[in-house]
Amino acid sequence: MLLLLWYVMLFTTLSYLFFFFFIIKRAPSKPKLPPGSMGWPFIGETLQLYSRDPNIFFTSKQKRYGEIFKTHVLGCPSVMLAGPEAARFVLVSHADLFRPTYPKSKERMIGPSALFFHQGDYHALLRKFVQASASPDALRRLIPGIEALAESALDSWAADGRVVNTFQGMKKLSFDVGILVIFGRLDSYYYEEELKKNYSIVDKGYNSFPNNIPGTNYYKAVMARKRLSEILGEIITKRREKRMETNDLLDHLINCKGDQGEILSDKQIADNIIGILFAAQDTTASALTWILKYLHDESKLHDAIRVEHMAIYEANEEGNRWLTWAQTRSMQLTYKVILETLRMASIISFTFREAVADVEYKGYLIPKGWKVMPLFRNIHHNPEFFTDPLKFDPSRFQVSPKPNTFMPFGSGVHSCPGNELAKLEMLILVHHLVTRYRWETVGSQSGIEYGPFPVPKAGLPAKFWRLTQ
Ligand code: HEM
Repeated sequence: MLLLLWYVMLFTTLSYLFFFFFIIKRAPSKPKLPPGSMGWPFIGETLQLYSRDPNIFFTSKQKRYGEIFKTHVLGCPSVMLAGPEAARFVLVSHADLFRPTYPKSKERMIGPSALFFHQGDYHALLRKFVQASASPDALRRLIPGIEALAESALDSWAADGRVVNTFQGMKKLSFDVGILVIFGRLDSYYYEEELKKNYSIVDKGYNSFPNNIPGTNYYKAVMARKRLSEILGEIITKRREKRMETNDLLDHLINCKGDQGEILSDKQIADNIIGILFAAQDTTASALTWILKYLHDESKLHDAIRVEHMAIYEANEEGNRWLTWAQTRSMQLTYKVILETLRMASIISFTFREAVADVEYKGYLIPKGWKVMPLFRNIHHNPEFFTDPLKFDPSRFQVSPKPNTFMPFGSGVHSCPGNELAKLEMLILVHHLVTRYRWETVGSQSGIEYGPFPVPKAGLPAKFWRLTQ
């Protein structure tokens, strides 16, 4: 009897062990949420993010939790990704699982038909036409126009020895370049002034608290946005009537046809024009302002850049001929300065996506509906990829960066279609600046402001002089 009991117990124990090791142990383990803290109820960690430089928040989290961590900011549970492979996973290889996401107030201000709010066929179609307006052929034709705008901006800053807010000056220049790319030359001065006036009201209210109270910046911006739609509607109607091929972005948008021959409505065209002006203006202006700061602070580099440009200037009969496409391609040191500026400043320091399904990445769960944020700046400032990352050193670009470690213009289906235009604008501005002008910054210059893009303190106040040649 005892023996039987002993057998029963042995059998039960062995069955239990078998079940535990072979059934339970072999069941695939459920992915867990990434490490990190979700902060306080409702507000999460938004205060920590905005009470100091946002990059300190990201960097301290990365040090504590590694390259993937969770948090709760701006009312959303979020997963932040600070490694190149993870950024590629979200933006390139699994882009269909993550859709672009923006606050509703911003979408309303820009216009819901703008391409960057979309995925799929509509997005791909529009992107094709925006890319066509920034193709090498199109850019080549824009050189004289951009040169004239750069010259006129620099002349106006140097005219009376006043202190110029460099960032504001660069904003005006990049807006004018945007108008040139979109409309070629606007026939009517009235339209140009109305566009500028209303756009600048929208720009002022864009980042303010959304409300419907008359008199506030946001409310004024909503009104100005309506006026912009009307003006753009009139310009589009006139252009459709003219039936002239002008090869600018408006021309491409008017003639844009989907697979079934469908064309864009005036509203879709207007939303996209405003979207492109928004995407182009502050980003390019911020990069240009940083270039001026770095060239000012690094006098040896400025002198070397000047040598590069004086050779071209002299070949062009003391600047009396327009730059050629080949000359803009030959500015090798300036090109490295631009890349290093984009790395150091990391103007778009991170982007947002939203998971459209539960996604597993390296054993971690990214739940459906959570925001996902690839942190470009953390990657650009990681010593593993860029030695001595806080040192401004254009020579590091003699060697190409490791794959997916340098993404100033993003990556994948939503990467920046204006990147070559932005770089051309920078090359041209630097050419005119160093060959014909000197500049001195005014006041104490260390520090960064975010509005929301990083800009040198107070917009880099500076005085400009025209050199006598
Ligand atoms: C230095 C200047 C610029 C920087 C640093 C920059 C950076 C970026 C980045 C990082 C993205 C991707 C955002 C994401 O993945 O969520 C982007 C998208 C975009 N950029 Fe730029 N950009 C610059 C200039 C321009 C210019 C001049 C244009 C004008 C054509 C432009 C038009 C756009 C558009 C339309 C998108 C959305 C693309 C899409 O969703 O398919 N950008 N930009």
